Amino acid sequence: MGSDYHAVYEGWKSDPEGYWSQAAEAIDWFKPSEKVFDPDQGSYGRWFAGATTNTCHNCLDRHVEGGRADQAALIYDSPITGSKRTYSYGELLAEVKALAAVLEDNGVEKGDRVIIYMPMIAEAAMAMLACARLGAVHSVVFGGFAGHELATRIDDAKPKLIIAASCGIEPNRIVPYKPMLDEAISEAAHKPEKCLILQRSQHPVDLTEGRDVDLGAAMEAARTQARDVPCTPVAATDPLYILYTSGTTGQPKGVVRDNGGHMVALNWSMNAIYGIEPGEVFWAASDVGWVVGHSYIVYAPLLHGNTTIVFEGKPVGTPDAGTFWRVISEHNVAALFTAPTAFRAIKKEDPQGALIGDYDLSGFRTLFLAGERADPDTIEWAREKLGVPVIDHWWQTETGWTIAGNPVGLGILPVKLGSPTVAMPGYDIQVLDDEGHPLERGELGNIVVKLPMPPGCLPTLWNAEKRFQDAYLAEFPGYYKTADAGYMDDEGYLFIMARTDDIINVAGHRLSTGAMEEAIAYHPDVAECAVIGIADDLKGQIPAGFLVLNSGVDRSEEEIEREVVKLVREQIGPVAAFKLALTVQRLPKTRSGKILRGTMQKIADGESWKMPATIDDPAILDEIGEVLSTRGIMRA
Ligand code: COA
Ligand code: AMP
Repeated sequence: MGSDYHAVYEGWKSDPEGYWSQAAEAIDWFKPSEKVFDPDQGSYGRWFAGATTNTCHNCLDRHVEGGRADQAALIYDSPITGSKRTYSYGELLAEVKALAAVLEDNGVEKGDRVIIYMPMIAEAAMAMLACARLGAVHSVVFGGFAGHELATRIDDAKPKLIIAASCGIEPNRIVPYKPMLDEAISEAAHKPEKCLILQRSQHPVDLTEGRDVDLGAAMEAARTQARDVPCTPVAATDPLYILYTSGTTGQPKGVVRDNGGHMVALNWSMNAIYGIEPGEVFWAASDVGWVVGHSYIVYAPLLHGNTTIVFEGKPVGTPDAGTFWRVISEHNVAALFTAPTAFRAIKKEDPQGALIGDYDLSGFRTLFLAGERADPDTIEWAREKLGVPVIDHWWQTETGWTIAGNPVGLGILPVKLGSPTVAMPGYDIQVLDDEGHPLERGELGNIVVKLPMPPGCLPTLWNAEKRFQDAYLAEFPGYYKTADAGYMDDEGYLFIMARTDDIINVAGHRLSTGAMEEAIAYHPDVAECAVIGIADDLKGQIPAGFLVLNSGVDRSEEEIEREVVKLVREQIGPVAAFKLALTVQRLPKTRSGKILRGTMQKIADGESWKMPATIDDPAILDEIGEVLSTRGIMRA
């Protein structure tokens, strides 16, 4: 059967406002928009200007009123703690009302920021929805970040309060959150008024008097009183959340998401892109701390009347490489969305896919991969072992949903391995050279999106409009810069090759090498350093830090390297996966002093490389190569 994609894409292109206005009919608005798109608001215009709505209403109340009260809304499945619980739409609404009542009792009002620092438990999703209900702006911080990263976000978002759990749980350890929370609050200049702490039985903590509230007990009281907290109307253009993502420095970028456009785009995507009907089970095996978790664990499936899964576990080791298949068969999952690294981990543990045979996967239709480049080996393996289409799609925290993909609901297009397929309606993707001239098909260049961005994409950065303009809009006037490089072939298929900035992608997690360099610079014995991402079979990339020590330092290099590894873990967090610190005599630089990170990476990865014409001293590259090969890191 042919795909409707081309006709739909052309339909969008000829009338973008008509296209999104029709998609907006699926959403409840308290007041309709005055303009579907207002080009005069914001940096590049705003979607659904003048409308009022509420995202929590559209995720929960609307479905309860519309007959889904008894349908499962959220399944919490936690192999790591051995617990499971299903919440119907009616039950989830009651929980969210209880949590919203606690927020209200603690002074949260429309527009206030609330930081959520929680592991993959149902309460994390409830906290997000409760903020949305009150028109408060949540900012979820991933549990694998350390206290310092949390402090940076506290100072930027200036939350009225923080919602946290007492701990997270990793396969080999309990991760106590309270010490990190306390450390972050003491480091930050801004002090939240209250912390709502969810006590987990695996690791209950002493609460700080006058500051901490026992969230579980407070919710129980609100539940007993059946507190009814109505949805606060917000403007479609008001912020729903801020999600911090890595930039080129240690100061993360606060990506702002609005209410109206976000709902329209996500709700539309569930059928058009993921091919899912309301009532079906959709599972994004990610974390609520990342954009995939925001969009496809919490908001999109609930907006669309689906059942979502909050999975607290790993693809391997909880308890084995069959966990994903167990969850799919047990909950009748129609589509799974995860990062390729999860599949590489499964493939490593169970290369034959033997565990797949233990489960009934007959209801499973499609596997979606994103977050990093999907390598052809992984795609082929998954396709062969699971017998379903494997769809790569490309997007970013900034966009919140797919820029280029293969739209299952519109009709799957032929897959080309290595390509996330084609531009989705809403995105006019072009490839430009560094001067901003369009390139021929097949030529490698800067991937940009012609403005305006579609509904759901970031309108700005939190309190940093100038940074937004500088980072995304200034370099190619009239276009949004994705900071990914790649090319488009004759049939419009896009190929994403590399980032054009200092971002690396470790196990599907976006990390800034600049932030790691800033952390390393704190070490008193380090004169200068460079962090690059080098190829890794499991995680895609891992960071490697090259250290130049101060002259006169006579301590052992191994000891300093160990301290540097510890420092990055303490400053950024275990998620940085920074385990490789290498002492070198000098760093290779251009004559103007720019460190040649790209060339270092090519040497480490065993790729072909050219001697940069502007290099100061070519001998330094040999020294780097020598250190890499002595340490057994350089690829053949
Ligand atoms: N809280 C605390 N620590 C965390 C954490 C969290 N939420 N998530 C990860 N960490 C820790 C890990 O325990 C590990 O610590 P260690 O150095 O003590 O072993 C470290 O951070 C690195 O984690 P990770 O890179 O995830 O490696 P891993 O070896 O634990 O697991 C995978 C490897 C492939 C199984 C895992 O990365 C994975 O499931 N990836 C899927 C990626 C994903 O969901 N991406 C989201 C975008 S779709
Ligand atoms: P994040 O903002 O964490 O979602 O990371 C976004 C970045 O991850 C993109 O800019 C890409 O560099 C990379 N990325 C995400 N999905 C893909 C994909 N399907 N193929 C290649 N790179 C991807």
